[in-house]
Amino acid sequence: MEPTQLPEAERAFKYFDLYGSMRAHKIMLEDMARMEAYHSAIFKNKSEMIADKVVLDVGTGTGVLAVWAAKAGAKQVYAVDASNAAKLARRLVQSSNVSDVVTILNSKVEEVEIPEPVDVIVSEWMGCFLLKESMFDSVAYARDKWLKPGGLMLPSRATILLGLYAPGNDSDRTNVVKLKLEKEIAEWKETVSNLQSLDVDYSGFTSEVLQDLSDYFLTNSMRVNYLSPDDLASAPQKVLEFDCATVDPTILVQFSQDFEYTISKHAEIKGFLGWFTTDFPNGVVLDTGPGKTYSHWGQQLYPLKESLKVAPGDRVVGTISVSRDPHEPRFNVVELKYQVNTGLEQTALFNVGHVQHLDEGSKNVFG
Ligand SMILES: C[S@@+](CC[C@H](N)C(=O)[O-])C[C@H]1O[C@@H](n2cnc3c(N)ncnc32)[C@H](O)[C@@H]1O
Repeated sequence: MEPTQLPEAERAFKYFDLYGSMRAHKIMLEDMARMEAYHSAIFKNKSEMIADKVVLDVGTGTGVLAVWAAKAGAKQVYAVDASNAAKLARRLVQSSNVSDVVTILNSKVEEVEIPEPVDVIVSEWMGCFLLKESMFDSVAYARDKWLKPGGLMLPSRATILLGLYAPGNDSDRTNVVKLKLEKEIAEWKETVSNLQSLDVDYSGFTSEVLQDLSDYFLTNSMRVNYLSPDDLASAPQKVLEFDCATVDPTILVQFSQDFEYTISKHAEIKGFLGWFTTDFPNGVVLDTGPGKTYSHWGQQLYPLKESLKVAPGDRVVGTISVSRDPHEPRFNVVELKYQVNTGLEQTALFNVGHVQHLDEGSKNVFG
């Protein structure tokens, strides 16, 4: 589905309004893992990749990637953004003295006209668990329309990974959610009693309150940071990997992948943990997994209602299915079916959209 076919979703989510505000860009510009990866991706081997090339920056935001491409020697940079951030980009381009090379176009990339095909497309299109925001649709559209045959995509590969979250007690983020849930339930019980003193009885609504709160806290994924690879019960597995130059974006709308983990230690699995990496053709990798520094994407934690006790040699098998949220196509629904050895198969369903974020200092724009 083309984003241009999603006017309702855009109204609901106000996607381009969000990106029109400096608040969204501040969070991305502060993410040094992101900034350093793109800086190296543009400047390392710049003479082969960027120098004298025509570059298209899909979703230029405040213009940083376009400015870097110009400084790396691009012949011409077309920097496109549909949001009001295009005005901010114009300012950065001017103050960086690259106005002779960079042309800012305030338009959806699906609707823009540029005067020539391009050698390179650079874009920072990734969302939480890679695909939230569904922006790769627009990048692929631009690729198919404007990239010369054999042209370069930055990044060139993207990979989604999934691990089994088995934290030590002091790094268990699922406790935070359970405590939040308990606090809300205690508050509701107090509210019922306060209202009884005002002669109105809400006690009959308690089961709905418990259900709705539990759905909210346990079916929305959480964004976490500062975890360690030791918080996993075994090595992570790839869920999806694709070549940005050739992938058909319609396969990203709905896909499934089986998994089979062999457990390496005694552990209590509290959830699944998902993240992504992107690779650039010059060997630079942006890795948002546990054990790395903070990134504004963090990892997605999918907490289980009942934890799984496992021992070395046990197998956790199952399937992850990822699809677009039918109510908001820029969000994802993640279904996890899993079992330990030959035990009972269980199912857990999550939304990657209304992300709860749990770490102090972990900033949230789209939550
Ligand atoms: C994640 S931000 C990246 C901004 C900037 N490139 C950076 O790295 O700081 C994505 C940007 O792409 C823009 N964008 C998303 N879809 C677009 C589309 N179809 N056409 C034009 N701009 C788009 C958004 O408005 C937003 O500013």
